[in-house]
Amino acid sequence: MLAPMAEISHRALRELIEGFEGFAGEPGGEGQEYFTEMLSAGALLGGGPFESWYLDAGPCPRRLVYQLAGADPARLERAAALLDRRDCLGIDINMGCAAPAIRRTGAGTAWMADINKAAAMIGRVRDAVRQRRLSVKLRLDGSPGGGLGTAAPPQERAAGPADILEYLVRFCRRLEAEGVELITLHPRRAGEKFKRRARWEYVEALRRELAIPVAGNGDIGTAAELLRRAGEGRAMVGRAAVRQPWIFAEARSPAGTGRPPVNLEETALRFLELLARYQPPEFHISRARRFFNYFCDNLKWGTHVKNLLNREQSLGGIERAWKAYFAAHPEESLPPPG
Ligand SMILES: Cc1cc2nc3c(=O)[nH]c(=O)nc-3n(C[C@H](O)[C@H](O)[C@H](O)COP(=O)(O)O)c2cc1C
Repeated sequence: MLAPMAEISHRALRELIEGFEGFAGEPGGEGQEYFTEMLSAGALLGGGPFESWYLDAGPCPRRLVYQLAGADPARLERAAALLDRRDCLGIDINMGCAAPAIRRTGAGTAWMADINKAAAMIGRVRDAVRQRRLSVKLRLDGSPGGGLGTAAPPQERAAGPADILEYLVRFCRRLEAEGVELITLHPRRAGEKFKRRARWEYVEALRRELAIPVAGNGDIGTAAELLRRAGEGRAMVGRAAVRQPWIFAEARSPAGTGRPPVNLEETALRFLELLARYQPPEFHISRARRFFNYFCDNLKWGTHVKNLLNREQSLGGIERAWKAYFAAHPEESLPPPG
């Protein structure tokens, strides 16, 4: 599954990924899901100027999961009802975003701090989602201060691994009881940054405790790792799918080691084309920067190239700077070994 990533998980990236599918007669994107970037429930209901772009479910709506973020149960319920009527696979509720600007509003991981509140909200959303799969993406807990949620007894507030798991299981069982059909766990605590490793042992432990499927997410970096994780259960990939949009096709290739033919220069040029086609002009520069922030990691002089591209103010300028780099370094067109 492609992870929901703000300003990244949009149609242009999905098209780019799909372009690598089926390269060696492998079955193509069957079973592969695409989560959208989080959509604000309030903006969706308010009919903001960019909502039609956010709602674009192409190129494969039946494998698309809309992710909703919000703090107000009534709005989440109404927004979910609206999405339920669209052609898509599912609706996911964001309880995993730890960005302070989101948390402060009561959305994202803030939901995980109170089991009863979260369960009541999910109950309302469940009533609204009649046709599509309802899922939740979350972290290990909801309190950036190191304690568990406010619903946890005081003695648990300085939490060790057993406390964290106990709270997580209790939280997820309530969601399961409310009718959630899939949980994706990004096994970091609310305040933890990427430099601390994702603790997949919690994914395994949660799988043992729930009847519904649990997808794991965090730090998958190569097709071989994706293949291994997908062998254990469902797996979600975020940043590595921007660095290597071929990662799903490569993981699905017959021997698990075959990479589709990749040319880095052409791949990014194709992305720029897709961006121009499938995103509004107001989004072009921010989305291009997000993409290149990860994609440039494939290059020997990636930081230098990122800086060059960041100076550009148009897609045309980015394209020219990108081509100029490869004219000077043609050997960089091949990706580093996976
Ligand atoms: C730029 C960026 C934006 C993100 N936006 C979202 C989001 O909108 N919703 C969400 O649930 N998680 C979001 N995440 C978290 C990812 O979905 C994922 O959990 C995290 O990147 C760990 O997976 P990875 O190691 O495969 O990248 C975002 C992550 C990044 C890097």
